[in-house]
Amino acid sequence: MDDKPWSRLRAWLYSLLFRSPKSNELVVRLADLSRSDRALDIGCGPGAAVRLAAGIVAEGEAVGVDRAEAMVDIARRRSTDFDNIRFEVGSAERLPFADGTFTVAWTAHSFHHWEDRARGLAEMRRVLEGGGRALILEQDGKKHGLTDSQAAEVIADMEGVGFRDVAIVKVDKQVVVSGVCGPPNLDS
Ligand SMILES: C[S@@+](CC[C@H](N)C(=O)[O-])C[C@H]1O[C@@H](n2cnc3c(N)ncnc32)[C@H](O)[C@@H]1O
Repeated sequence: MDDKPWSRLRAWLYSLLFRSPKSNELVVRLADLSRSDRALDIGCGPGAAVRLAAGIVAEGEAVGVDRAEAMVDIARRRSTDFDNIRFEVGSAERLPFADGTFTVAWTAHSFHHWEDRARGLAEMRRVLEGGGRALILEQDGKKHGLTDSQAAEVIADMEGVGFRDVAIVKVDKQVVVSGVCGPPNLDS
């Protein structure tokens, strides 16, 4: 968990060292995007996964959000070749988007930093339309990732906020928890 947004130096170092992580390709592949999807990457960092998605969602939109302004600056500078991409500063716990904006949302290597994970998952569900897909990718394990018991908590939290068909897969030392948005909860 981070108590403050990443500094310019930390963002710059991360963006140099991890220009296009393989796990970004994995999460985009598992998101199974179509041309018309509206995709959101939460904690997008330098935006590598958002750019991969933008190349697929030609009739839709690929959006990245990150709470570090420095990361969003880097992501924007690297994405000037795309016209269906945008980046916003904002936190997972309070996403700056209207209800039902997206058809798919994911987060990669960011979830373990979130201050309030249950709230972040509820926000993820709020910004997805009914039937929208969500994916949480982390390293498999305790260090900068999710243990099996933490993954079980994520499953329970996702089901608690209205995701169904929640499933877990492990690929290439990554763990991915996915779910599908049920119909809107009219009581909330
Ligand atoms: C390890 S980087 C991962 C970046 C990118 N997803 C990737 O896979 O390369 C973690 C990112 O999560 C962002 N982050 C951490 N906590 C966040 C929160 N609560 N809301 C939004 N972004 C957050 C950080 O600013 C950082 O850019």
